[in-house]
Amino acid sequence: MTGHDSLREYAGKQLVSFLRKGDFAHAGEEAAIDLAFSNVARAPEQSILDVGCGLGGTAAYIQDHRLGRVTGLDIEKEAILYAQEKYPTCVFHCCDVLDAAQVITQRFDLICMFNAFYAFSDQLAALKTLNKLIDMKGKIIIFDYSDPDIRKITPLFRAGDKNTSPFKPISFQGIDSLLEQSGWKLSKKIDISPQYIQWYTQLIDRLQGNENEIIRLFSQSLFQKAITTYSSIKESLVKDLLGGILLYAEKA
Ligand SMILES: C[S@@+](CC[C@H](N)C(=O)[O-])C[C@H]1O[C@@H](n2cnc3c(N)ncnc32)[C@H](O)[C@@H]1O
Repeated sequence: MTGHDSLREYAGKQLVSFLRKGDFAHAGEEAAIDLAFSNVARAPEQSILDVGCGLGGTAAYIQDHRLGRVTGLDIEKEAILYAQEKYPTCVFHCCDVLDAAQVITQRFDLICMFNAFYAFSDQLAALKTLNKLIDMKGKIIIFDYSDPDIRKITPLFRAGDKNTSPFKPISFQGIDSLLEQSGWKLSKKIDISPQYIQWYTQLIDRLQGNENEIIRLFSQSLFQKAITTYSSIKESLVKDLLGGILLYAEKA
């Protein structure tokens, strides 16, 4: 998925931020964070780890809304340098999720991930690592793309060899056992595919409505890649080849 890859790079992230009107690179922006946190008790003093935090907008939003004290981590150095400069009240680390237990000594009350889990090459190992970073009775929130039916062929991530695709949406059926194998107990699994369709429709409208400015600020090719990427995601969502999922689990 070439278009998707280039949107993940730093210039692509800046375009995504422009479109999403904040340093967010997940579907639904603020509404998605509000939705995810609407199912957990409000605790301003709790410690939260935002894994795959990108440019830091989500971490800052969570902290500004007094939902907890947030630490972010991301594998991309440029994104972390940007986040550290722009959001100095949050703490940020640059590392691979798989190295997080060595890099971060603190233990957290809550871990959250917004459209980051799908990008991890070894999702089971990531869940096992994150389990070491959570306090007793700690929780994890995973907001991501889902794979509604692994039997269906999808152009996004099952066109070729599934194991080499950088896009690994969460198997709606398979996630329960992945969590169990990694020390987590699933407490809630919510299908948020209708919200994803609505969010991607809005995003494409915004992209088309700002075409000239986007080309001026970024480039024609990045604009085209964004259109191609978001249109193929929306098409897959509408055809039920891709979905959205919100998961809650606690340390077993
Ligand atoms: C789609 S972006 C989402 C960023 C952020 N959560 C947000 O909502 O704005 C996915 C992020 O996951 C990060 N990521 C991908 N693989 C990673 C890994 N192995 N360890 C840590 N971060 C990773 C990427 O660098 C990227 O910033």
